[in-house]
Amino acid sequence: MIIAQISDLHIGFAGKGEVCKNSARLKQVVDALNTLQRQPDLVIATGDLVEHGQDWAYRVLKNELKQIKSPVYFAFGNHDNRKAFLKIFPHFPLIDGFLQYTIEDYAVRIIVLDTLKEGQHGGSFCQTRTDWLDAKLAEQPERPTVIAMHHPPIRTGIGWLTAKPGDKWVKRLHDVISRYDNVEHIFAGHIHRSIFKSFAGATISVTQAIAPQTKLELADIDPHIPDGRGLLVESRPGFCLHYWNGDDMTTHSAQAPCGKTLLHYDKKYAYVVRHTLDLDH
Ligand SMILES: [Fe+2]
Ligand SMILES: [Fe+2]
Repeated sequence: MIIAQISDLHIGFAGKGEVCKNSARLKQVVDALNTLQRQPDLVIATGDLVEHGQDWAYRVLKNELKQIKSPVYFAFGNHDNRKAFLKIFPHFPLIDGFLQYTIEDYAVRIIVLDTLKEGQHGGSFCQTRTDWLDAKLAEQPERPTVIAMHHPPIRTGIGWLTAKPGDKWVKRLHDVISRYDNVEHIFAGHIHRSIFKSFAGATISVTQAIAPQTKLELADIDPHIPDGRGLLVESRPGFCLHYWNGDDMTTHSAQAPCGKTLLHYDKKYAYVVRHTLDLDH
């Protein structure tokens, strides 16, 4: 089973009717996905789907995603707006006002969480959402499960894009997830960088953005003293392929376009594959 993860699309950044570079970047990733010999079983877009929560931007997004061959699922990020999203994607029902649901049709069970508090940049996970997650995990405690959400509940080392371990929403997630040992992996976004870490007994991977990536800089930041550092950098759009082999999950991080092919697996270079597999000894 393959899950393609895209995140932080920020469609509509340029304004209504304007040419949006993030749309072009999304197309590059969609093209990369469409050229894979083995197509993903599904695609999950983990939030910041649009830039300003505008319904016209969700409509643009819906059109752009038509090029994806696999079913597409969504989580909300801090740039999203529940009401505007539902106007364009009405078949995604909210539960208790939140976009939380499970995907049950595949070898791995997927639980999508909603960490959005409208008007706030950082993550949020209230008791209502926590209770729902607990109940869902309790339903199938043996089945391999992954969780997809926008905000990673981890300290990243990037001082302006990080959660704090003392945050209530982080504690709630930690307490619930650590009680279940079938949570194989947590997919997140929001940081616009590729990050890997353990959290509550699971591995968490943060995928690169469709929009430009965050500059890698781990120096402390003072929110009151702008020191001229880079915040965002020119970069290719990224995505992840999460590969479930029946026993465990492997995460591959990639950027699009993938680059010109230098070596093909044809008759001339078939030996490369055999050599690599140590079959010619
Ligand atoms: Fe984002
Ligand atoms: Fe975000």
